Amino acid sequence: MPELVLSHITRRFSGHTAVDDLSLTVRDGEFVCLLGPSGCGKTTTLRIIAGFERADAGRLTLDGTDITHAPPEKRDIGLVFQSYALFPHKTVAENIGFGLKMRRRPRAEIARAVEEALALVRLDGLGGRYPRALSGGQQQRVALARALAIRPRLLLMDEPLSNLDAQLREEMRVEIRRIQQQLGITAILVTHDQSEALAMADRVAVMAHGRLQQMAEPAAIYEAPATAFVGGFIGQVNTLEGQVEQAGAEGAVLSLPGGTRLAGQGEGLSAGSAARALVKQERLTLSRTEPAGLPNRFPCRVTERTYLGGSIAYRCEAANLSLTALLPNHPLFERFSPGDEGWIGFSAADCAIFPC
Ligand SMILES: Nc1ncnc2c1ncn2[C@@H]1O[C@H](COP(=O)(O)OP(=O)(O)OP(=O)(O)O)[C@@H](O)[C@H]1O
Ligand SMILES: [Mg+2]
Repeated sequence: MPELVLSHITRRFSGHTAVDDLSLTVRDGEFVCLLGPSGCGKTTTLRIIAGFERADAGRLTLDGTDITHAPPEKRDIGLVFQSYALFPHKTVAENIGFGLKMRRRPRAEIARAVEEALALVRLDGLGGRYPRALSGGQQQRVALARALAIRPRLLLMDEPLSNLDAQLREEMRVEIRRIQQQLGITAILVTHDQSEALAMADRVAVMAHGRLQQMAEPAAIYEAPATAFVGGFIGQVNTLEGQVEQAGAEGAVLSLPGGTRLAGQGEGLSAGSAARALVKQERLTLSRTEPAGLPNRFPCRVTERTYLGGSIAYRCEAANLSLTALLPNHPLFERFSPGDEGWIGFSAADCAIFPC
């Protein structure tokens, strides 16, 4: 049985629709990341699931039970926020045990649950400390332990890693994933960081303007975006606008201003209509000789080189095109400098065309 089902959830704030007819299912034991730009309705969606915000329309079920109108404390949900929100005057153990104390559980049971939760987040022995005596990463672990101590059916996390530095964030990604799998708990994590979503999720739900754009496994989100929004939002992308010259099952041809033609692939395209081609930067080749096998290949001049450590971004000007190619920083790949002449190319499969 699916664990959490959102059906046509809508929430408006004084005329502005924050969540717009959102339907999605989070399966039992699944880790879903809700990903989208600032203001797209992620937090509002999470608050509706938690019961802190009401939906103007739609239905919410958890394990087959309608919880649309259930108060937050009856939903059996654990919550973690960006700000940790720990009680500063309570010890770590008191913070973690708080939810159980509110539920009037026996003291011995609370003590045992606190020990278990501390071990789970690898903070054994720190129960007597106060939050101010912990690092940011440790505080976030306490927040996670507190959410898990009540053994919720569902774990909701809103940007839990955004206050941590880059290295700690990567460590905590792995930690949260390990804990979620160890407990087999169903979890939703809200983020606007695409690499976080791709790295952590079983499935990613991409939102824009309150609407669900696509919900799929990370590789499908990245390799086969369902909408131009998803294609442009995920990864580093070249965007080229033009007019569909030809469209069919075998592929599409996009004609760009200035007469350049691109071979690509897309659905729902009709000849003569405006369309947008998206090509991920790392799918472009840059070479000194003509890449004969590629249908899209143009002589170009390198105008800019940006050293990124693991990769190098080359901005290139071709006839009427400006394209960026991201090449691995590896001895097998040719190096270019601004002013160098070369060829830039990409396959039709890597050129996704969407109607405008
Ligand atoms: N209580 C409220 N009253 C009025 N408008 C609100 C309220 N809460 C959210 N909004 C609006 O709803 C929209 C969605 O907000 P929400 O906080 O869900 O976005 P978000 O995706 O979480 O963004 P961020 O990544 O910045 O946290 C925004 O336009 C926001 O201003
Ligand atoms: Mg938010």
